[in-house]
Amino acid sequence: MRGKVSLVTGAGSGIGRATALALAENGATIVIADMDFAAAEETAALITAASSDPDTGAAHTAPLALSCDVTRPAEVARVFAAIDDNFGGLDYAVNNAGICTEVGPISDYSLSSFRTMMSVNVMGVFTCLQHEVSAMRRRGGGAIVNLSSIFGQVSGPGYSAYTVTKHAVEGLTKSVALENAEHGIRVNCVRPSVVQTPLMTGKHVNAAPGSKEWSAYENANPTKRNAQPEEIAAAIVWQLSDEASFVSGGGINLDGAYLAR
Ligand SMILES: NC(=O)c1ccc[n+]([C@@H]2O[C@H](COP(=O)([O-])OP(=O)(O)OC[C@H]3O[C@@H](n4cnc5c(N)ncnc54)[C@H](O)[C@@H]3O)[C@@H](O)[C@H]2O)c1
Repeated sequence: MRGKVSLVTGAGSGIGRATALALAENGATIVIADMDFAAAEETAALITAASSDPDTGAAHTAPLALSCDVTRPAEVARVFAAIDDNFGGLDYAVNNAGICTEVGPISDYSLSSFRTMMSVNVMGVFTCLQHEVSAMRRRGGGAIVNLSSIFGQVSGPGYSAYTVTKHAVEGLTKSVALENAEHGIRVNCVRPSVVQTPLMTGKHVNAAPGSKEWSAYENANPTKRNAQPEEIAAAIVWQLSDEASFVSGGGINLDGAYLAR
């Protein structure tokens, strides 16, 4: 992956940050796009620190941290202009920025929350895909991974809006893979179950480790545990890599056998 220009949206936290670090460890050149610019810069600093470690570091091009709200098309366009200006093209993209701002029964669910989740998790991915595909066609190929979820396949009580968004991500993965297969662009997704990140442990889902909500998620998993972001990042790196050269239009379940029942 040495020198492969790799965009990770939402890489200021959780799975996105772990993915950016894992790609950098493999020699890729990282572009971090997050609406939380301070968090994006923190990820860039972590990559720089890891790459300069004399024992483990792989010298590579410095990461680029950018402020971008994926729901704002003009900000997304600026990210791709910056990628062209700085690196002259794009090889890999991870459409990771995503939110879950409300969990609750559909009858009480706020429409504004539903709109916000559609706007980040679906429109944001759609807008990024438009630019990624154009950039990769100019490059002569590339690979893209979208963040789906087990809720891209099934659902759970309280998760109607999130489920809609992740089912949409699965549909986008298939259609964009088909449209671009002949252009050497592979498009896949990953389907994590519960991962220990601020999305799960923060105020909206409110399942911090040690809480009864966290234990309930652990107990609902056949492995009786939840995942760490690095376990998701490893699969994303593989999907992007040449090792997965004939893998497109599908997804990997990263769920401790949750979907096998
Ligand atoms: N954590 C889980 O259990 C889990 C499970 C399945 C799928 N996922 C998916 O993985 C992805 C990453 O989730 P995470 O758990 O790492 O979340 P997280 O909250 O730890 O990180 C999300 C990052 O995205 C950024 N972000 C949010 N809205 C944005 C926007 N509009 N524009 C740009 N950046 C934005 C945030 O600033 C943050 O840095 C999401 O798509 C999520 O739906 C997470």
